[in-house]
Amino acid sequence: MSYKSEVKHQELLSWVQEIADHCTPDSIYWCDGSKQEYDTLCQKMVEKGTFTKLNPAKWENSYACFSDPSDVARVEDRTYICSRRREDAGPTNNWVEPKEMKDTLNGLLKGCMKGRTMYVIPFCMGPLGSPISQIGVEISDSEYVVVNMHIMTRVGRKVADALGADGEYIKCLHTVGAPLQAGQQDVKWPCNPTVKYIVHYPDERSIVSYGSGYGGNALLGKKCFALRIASVMGKEENWLAEHMLIMGVQNPEGKKYYIGAAFPSACGKTNFAMLIPPKEFEGWKVTTVGDDIAWIKPDKSGQLYAINPEYGYFGVAPGTNDKTNPNAMAAMRKNSIFTNVGITPDGDVWWEGLSKEVPKDITSWKGVKWDSASGQPVAHPNARFTAPASQCPSIDPDWENPQGVKISAFIFGGRRSTTIPLVYQAFNWNFGVYLASTMGSETTAAAFGEVGKVRRDPFAMLPFCGYHMADYFNHWLEFGRSLPNPPRIFGVNWFRKDENGNFLWPGFSDNMRVLQWVFNRIKGKTSSVESPIGWMPRYEDIDWTGLNFSRQDFEKIMTVDREAWKGELLAHEELFEKMYDRLPKEYVYMRQLLLSSLWRSPAQWGLAPETV
Ligand code: GTP
Ligand code: SPV
Ligand code: MN
Repeated sequence: MSYKSEVKHQELLSWVQEIADHCTPDSIYWCDGSKQEYDTLCQKMVEKGTFTKLNPAKWENSYACFSDPSDVARVEDRTYICSRRREDAGPTNNWVEPKEMKDTLNGLLKGCMKGRTMYVIPFCMGPLGSPISQIGVEISDSEYVVVNMHIMTRVGRKVADALGADGEYIKCLHTVGAPLQAGQQDVKWPCNPTVKYIVHYPDERSIVSYGSGYGGNALLGKKCFALRIASVMGKEENWLAEHMLIMGVQNPEGKKYYIGAAFPSACGKTNFAMLIPPKEFEGWKVTTVGDDIAWIKPDKSGQLYAINPEYGYFGVAPGTNDKTNPNAMAAMRKNSIFTNVGITPDGDVWWEGLSKEVPKDITSWKGVKWDSASGQPVAHPNARFTAPASQCPSIDPDWENPQGVKISAFIFGGRRSTTIPLVYQAFNWNFGVYLASTMGSETTAAAFGEVGKVRRDPFAMLPFCGYHMADYFNHWLEFGRSLPNPPRIFGVNWFRKDENGNFLWPGFSDNMRVLQWVFNRIKGKTSSVESPIGWMPRYEDIDWTGLNFSRQDFEKIMTVDREAWKGELLAHEELFEKMYDRLPKEYVYMRQLLLSSLWRSPAQWGLAPETV
């Protein structure tokens, strides 16, 4: 039964009571994190019609569900950083004065859990006991949130025990914002279709989320805590909380490096983190530490160590299949939850890109029989799977190492159909930080709103930085200065297209070819040429065995086009104008330098092949 009576943390107990008094749930339940608890809640959702139990022969112990059409992705325009001072949230975040926001939310929260159970979910981001980990407690009125938190974080009684009588934790309050009147029947996906607030108070390090039950809006350990609040903690305590995958790369001689890579939402982190090298790359091995978030700290000697604060994957389903990402397919084969994919009458799931043929009689994510003439997709473009990280065949042996893994390089990449070359290496830390700060990417279905529009997404952190973006740039510059041998910084772009709109680069496992060049650069072996934006491989610096990719193809994808870069530099300036008062002073000079080196004759680029 409930272990509440054994919880020693008086402050936590009174916070829970205070929330219960205000939100007036029918009952309170302390999550113990057990399998039985998980199964019981899943069964409860099956009975309510929220979950469909999948065919166990195909998807063992797994469920699928459809969300409300108003609740399918993160809502960036409803996300707030309520710092005491507006300037500290900066120009890229929504801000409301904290007291005013609290008044608004208190109004909405009053009685908001009526007719529901209030779940208390103690959770740990990172391995329990790791010096890099942090504890949170999420209060939520959603069973969907509880079971997803079971997969995505370490949850339950063991975390409450670790808190002891006075341990620190982050307060995370979540409600779907859909109270039930006496006798009112619940809907399958409760949420508030019109009012949503995702609110962060960085000064008191707490989170309140109202009205949504989906993903990063509701699983508060993920973006709200592990990125927005943690980025503020990292700035104050000299560490980094980043929207990065962490991967291990090992060469045939057994040399291994760990790399952190930041790509914006739905731009290939999960795929890259689980990459399987082409068969020609015998002896090369990629292992997965994390696919979305990295917490990175320097040790005493100034080496960087990273942990993945998460325990599972909340990955994009569309486009995932046995060819593009066999490791993800294996990870989701059992004990998983599918949200907004299509469901077949025999308990199978399907999404665009899973296979060529759409299965017969499939129900689309909208909960109706899919009509092939409708032109509508079967799965929502932001349909996701929630799967335990431990089930991923490429999981790194050190993924739960409490000390983290040593990071040797950072990669930054956006989704750009033009302008940005396949790969380059920044000349040094500062220039790498500049390039990451000015990175652009086309928007995706991971956030509610227009898709395919290029916007600046510094460090892939635009929606996730909990403070002033220019202070964040300064933090990165400052951080690098304190490291005797900072990681090398690279840029990549898998998404460049030809005149007909086709991807120029095969991507997926062939990204190994780029990764191999990066690996050898870290090792200090591979040759390269100098371009205005950094060191680049020549055609002969990349291993093309097993792939038909001509020198002309390569030139197309590596071109640094002057006219296109003119536009790029204008976009840098637009970004800088927004935050001029706090912008690192060197950025203005670095932009000038970039401009003048672009204006040298292209014939001068690459004239001096260098071997480091
Ligand atoms: P979040 O979980 O939203 O942070 O995203 P993510 O970066 O982990 O995205 P994910 O790896 O799930 O990528 C999603 C989309 O990128 C899918 O549509 C993939 O098909 C596509 N994608 C991934 N890798 C590649 C690649 O190498 N080339 C191309 N063209 N598409 C890719
Ligand atoms: C992202 O949007 O970057 C995600 C998915 O990883 S969510 O958790 O919904 O934010
Ligand atoms: Mn993400």
